[in-house]
Amino acid sequence: MPDTTLAFFVDLEPAVADFQESVIEGLSKTPKQLACKFFYDEVGLDLFGKICETEEYYVTRTELALMRQIGPELAELAGPQRTVIELGSGSDLKIRLLLDALTAPAQYVPIDISPAHLRASAEAVASDYPETRVGAVCADFTAPLSIPADAIEVTDGARLGYFPGSTIGNLTPMEAESFLRGLHPLLGPNGALLIGVDLRKDTGRLNRAYNDAAGYTAAFNLNILHRIAGELDSSIDPAVFEHYAFYNEAEGRIEMHLRSKHQQIIRVGESRFELVADELIHTENSYKYSLDGFAALAASAGYRSVARWTDAEDFFSIHYLTVAA
Ligand code: AVI
Repeated sequence: MPDTTLAFFVDLEPAVADFQESVIEGLSKTPKQLACKFFYDEVGLDLFGKICETEEYYVTRTELALMRQIGPELAELAGPQRTVIELGSGSDLKIRLLLDALTAPAQYVPIDISPAHLRASAEAVASDYPETRVGAVCADFTAPLSIPADAIEVTDGARLGYFPGSTIGNLTPMEAESFLRGLHPLLGPNGALLIGVDLRKDTGRLNRAYNDAAGYTAAFNLNILHRIAGELDSSIDPAVFEHYAFYNEAEGRIEMHLRSKHQQIIRVGESRFELVADELIHTENSYKYSLDGFAALAASAGYRSVARWTDAEDFFSIHYLTVAA
């Protein structure tokens, strides 16, 4: 069907990881693990949306409030006619706050691995921001070097990358550094990056944020097992696992695991895996940074820290970085 609202839609046909292969590989490791990217099917996305609305998960609310507050400063720093490149096409609300804050943004280009979701969210922005040229690139933004800089059409304005939500925290610091460095070619000359980063804080608050009373985080974590049971040839029974999440102070990260309630053998395809009672399958890390710790990581990835903002309680931070010359 011809595209009527988007200026361009570049499909780089990103390789979609093979779910079964990744599950078998993860369960073959010691300790066992499952990749957190598989949380996000339709059910997982819906559960994540519910997590974001819980009282305990301060992350989304705090970042949104901060975005509202820093708008005028952002406009000043970024200047007019920017091309905004969003890494992932997640929260509609956050990108709208950014586009509303900036002076005459020339272009908006989300990059996401899921073509249907990407097209729908880019078209929604296009129809609400008729003055801004909107295109989209279907690619794996976590592998930025696989995205040629000219996949995004050149306009006069410099580029501003946008990576909200503290998704950077789901990478190890080493992965985060190489990911941030890999963005340089995409950001181009005079490029900048606006990034949301969750901060270290009281352990009790962190633990509550990943163990909400309504059980949405537990359901989100267990959803990966429901996916294995529903989509793969597997004997796995999600009911014999439970959610377990805690803040690992030494590593500075929340760890999410699935705990086997008793000894069991599970089959995935032709492979069998034995779990002892209470054995954990590691599903996600969510790193929390100090302000200086993140600035140091950004510096080692070749960025200059131009501005950073936190809320009154120092729960969350937003950093405006420029690519160091
Ligand atoms: C997407 N990401 C930043 C969330 C986080 O906080 O690490 C995912 C999440 N996991 C459990 N709750 C939310």
